[in-house]
Amino acid sequence: MPTSAPRRDVRELTHEGLVFGCDYNSEQWPRETWHEDVVLMREAGITLVAVNIFGWATLNPAEGVWDFSLLDEILDLLHANQIAVNLGTATASTPAWLTTAYPEVLPVAADGTRRFPGGRQAWCPSSPVYRERSKELVTRIADRYGSHPAVALWHVSNELGCHNALCYCDVSATAFREWLKERYVTIDALNTAWGTTFWSQRYGEWDEILPPRATISTTNPGQELDFHRFSSDALLDQYRAEAEVIRTRSEAPVTTNFMVAAHIRNLDYWSWASDMDVVANDHYLDHRLADPVVEMGFSSDLSRGLAGGKPWLLMETAVGAVNWQPLNVARVPGELQRQMVAHIAHGADGVCFFQWRASTQGSEKFHSALVPHAGTDTRAWREVVALGSTMKDLAELQGTVVKAEVALLFGWDSWWAADADNHPSSEVRYLEQVHATYAALRASGVTVDVVSPDADLSPYRLIVVPALYSVTDATAAAVADAVAMGATAFVTFFSGIVDENDRVRLGGYPGAFRGLLGVLVEEFSPVPADVTLALTSGGKARLWTEYVRAEGAEVIDRFEDGPVAGSPVVTRNQVGSGAAWYAASALEPETLAALMSRVVEDSGVIPMPAAGPEVEVVRRVGVDASYLFVINHSLKDVSVDVSGMELVQRREVDGDLTVPAGTARVVREETA
Ligand code: GAL
Repeated sequence: MPTSAPRRDVRELTHEGLVFGCDYNSEQWPRETWHEDVVLMREAGITLVAVNIFGWATLNPAEGVWDFSLLDEILDLLHANQIAVNLGTATASTPAWLTTAYPEVLPVAADGTRRFPGGRQAWCPSSPVYRERSKELVTRIADRYGSHPAVALWHVSNELGCHNALCYCDVSATAFREWLKERYVTIDALNTAWGTTFWSQRYGEWDEILPPRATISTTNPGQELDFHRFSSDALLDQYRAEAEVIRTRSEAPVTTNFMVAAHIRNLDYWSWASDMDVVANDHYLDHRLADPVVEMGFSSDLSRGLAGGKPWLLMETAVGAVNWQPLNVARVPGELQRQMVAHIAHGADGVCFFQWRASTQGSEKFHSALVPHAGTDTRAWREVVALGSTMKDLAELQGTVVKAEVALLFGWDSWWAADADNHPSSEVRYLEQVHATYAALRASGVTVDVVSPDADLSPYRLIVVPALYSVTDATAAAVADAVAMGATAFVTFFSGIVDENDRVRLGGYPGAFRGLLGVLVEEFSPVPADVTLALTSGGKARLWTEYVRAEGAEVIDRFEDGPVAGSPVVTRNQVGSGAAWYAASALEPETLAALMSRVVEDSGVIPMPAAGPEVEVVRRVGVDASYLFVINHSLKDVSVDVSGMELVQRREVDGDLTVPAGTARVVREETA
């Protein structure tokens, strides 16, 4: 699997079984409630509780004033109840005294205006004042609790970069210049990389360079791209600074919660993953998307990719509705269990929730929680208790892994660069294209590893490259080598267009993959979003057309109408025993799914039995046993030919497992 791998094992967090946990914002509740809460936590089977995530102002209410008494008590209480602690460093949200005394800590937007405190994460990632104060806080916490027996995991900050990833202040400008000096060494190299001869943008001195602040026209795309890279690194530095303090004072593993989500794109987690002792991800269903459950699968598979194929931890999700979408949809009965088992199927070794008890105040008071406002005589609570018991039933899955023969290449560099302004169509969004391709793979019933463009591709029989706009020579060579060795590649439009400096590859599109695909694209001709393009095969496409010339590739399908009627839209190039397919438009879901099934067949990858658009079938493999997951998201029962012990219902199945509509089952397979 990928380049980077976490250093430790989720297995260390709780001794046996899968993690079942939650965030506990104990500061919001009186002591009597804590005592009621630990009893309920035990009833639900909670094994890991994250505390002190937003505790800075409680621990350090004024400059120089420290009070750990409440945190002491809560740690001891949890420990006395055999509940392990995921201890927050509390650095995510600064106390009011800090930003009042040191307003320079506050972040600045691209238009030069400073953001006020009063929300959360109101700090500049490059601020030396913030760095010093946050390290002081972490040092005190780690000194005090470094060997506390309750502490099983350290939770650095919270969702680093969720709100403050891009800061444009003068301090950030200086830090950006230092970062650029390290990357380019000479100003000439920077000028070349950014193409600053364009519009007379040449720099003579480092001090002339600014973050890409709001300008009256468009900014330099190379500068924007490097600012994204710098900003991701600046937050990674903050993580490293906190982790270093902890590691000298505690043996427990250290992590932070990633946000592999559709609406957050500022951190290149490929460069973060190897700093995590275990990879942890937060995932919330996003009902603004066409298919939130497909995105959930993608997020899980990417989390597994970030974990280098090892188990990872779902650090946060919601029991029901969130509070931050325009319409906050609750989960219907049964959905919670099915979706949590789906996360386990994709390689999670535990699921945790935001949050334990629904708040009565603050902007998240209408966010669902394990204990809802209505209390425990509720359907929601009963489902939580049932889920806790399922997690126990699935304990033996701990440490087992998912194996895939299909890789989907995904990169933040491409996301940042492809979605920049002034491109052929602002309707073509990188992540939407990735999700559409992932949905087609899922519909064709295969298990997918989402991997870095730098990953070792040799284990894969099918390599899928959706809209990978920015590609290094090394990635292009790795895909070509894999095909030369007999693999199949499937590449979609607007891939391979530029190098890592966003410089167009000349000689015809799709630059980096032109030779491999045996095609040459002369010109793009995108179409409005409401136009449907007909294909000769009867299929349909949208958004994009281009003048494709087959140069060795076989033409599989053509545009029937639209600006390039008659031009190839799907091609296949035989390369030795391998093949390279190309799709030159955004194929409609059914058309893409049908094509993907054909590509999968061509690759020799065998789809999982009974799997389809709404039925996930995934296998986790351990040393002594293998486990078949069937996640039935559909409204119809499905039957699967499998024998063994079904763990959710604890009964033997002999060759015919019925998985009722909306449920999930896991079978420890009999080996012949
Ligand atoms: C996460 C965050 C939590 C909480 C949650 C609400 O992004 O880490 O603190 O805000 O969202 O969905």
